[in-house]
Amino acid sequence: MGRLDGKVCVITGAVGGIGSATCELFAREGATVAGADVTENAPGDLSMQVDVTHEGRVIEMYEHVLQTYGRIDVLFNNAGIDPLRARSVLETEVGDWDRIMDVNVRSAFVMSQAAIPLMREGGGGTIVNTASIAGLKPAADEAAYSVSKAAMVSLTGTLALDFAADGIRANCVCPGFMEMVMTDRRRDLTEEQQAARAESAAARVPLGRQGTYEEVAKAVLFLAGPDASYITGAALVVDGGLLLR
Ligand SMILES: NC(=O)c1ccc[n+]([C@@H]2O[C@H](COP(=O)([O-])OP(=O)(O)OC[C@H]3O[C@@H](n4cnc5c(N)ncnc54)[C@H](O)[C@@H]3O)[C@@H](O)[C@H]2O)c1
Repeated sequence: MGRLDGKVCVITGAVGGIGSATCELFAREGATVAGADVTENAPGDLSMQVDVTHEGRVIEMYEHVLQTYGRIDVLFNNAGIDPLRARSVLETEVGDWDRIMDVNVRSAFVMSQAAIPLMREGGGGTIVNTASIAGLKPAADEAAYSVSKAAMVSLTGTLALDFAADGIRANCVCPGFMEMVMTDRRRDLTEEQQAARAESAAARVPLGRQGTYEEVAKAVLFLAGPDASYITGAALVVDGGLLLR
């Protein structure tokens, strides 16, 4: 028996590292996966090209999932951006600040707002949000990103509180250094810079290396599935001990 047998799961940022690893793992655990990403060819039984900051497109996406599968059990709010140019408060354009908040937080609000009534109808569900260790301890030169991820931790708590009675649990994962920098940063960093980052990560992380996408996906599976039945409102740190430094 898979841990997600019979569950319909919507995963945003499905083309990216953590998203695609989670799509794969959820499918192996028996889930029906609806993958959504602003980039085309999201993995999953249902592949949806959606900009999650557009509430109209989000509503259409849910209608499509409902028409196809008739229910939604799990929502993984994972889409995110972290543009290199948005550094300290002084070095962040207002437009970048707004976009980071839109993609990283407002999208999770919009996605959850649309999913919760459907989960209620189905007798409950689970929401997992991707925050970051930057949401628990601000990262230097990533002001907007850190604030967006702190908001994600807080959003997780309010969802957990407000919908526990409906049988809906909400938790978040807080990854540390992942095996690759995010897509938008990758475009701005040379391969040498990325290699230097990996080396410095390995030196700083108590477990001595960066995390793999699959290691985060396993934490998401735990929180989304039945093994976490008494866990709601939690921020699960998946960082090899980095936050302790
Ligand atoms: N990579 C890291 O080091 C790291 C560390 C901590 C937290 N995170 C978080 O993990 C999550 C996944 O990141 P990742 O490492 O897989 O990076 P990634 O760049 O590989 O994946 C992010 C995905 O989100 C998608 N996306 C961006 N804007 C979107 C939009 N408007 N609508 C729909 N999809 C959109 C991108 O196309 C991409 O596929 C993000 O929320 C990120 O902030 C990443």
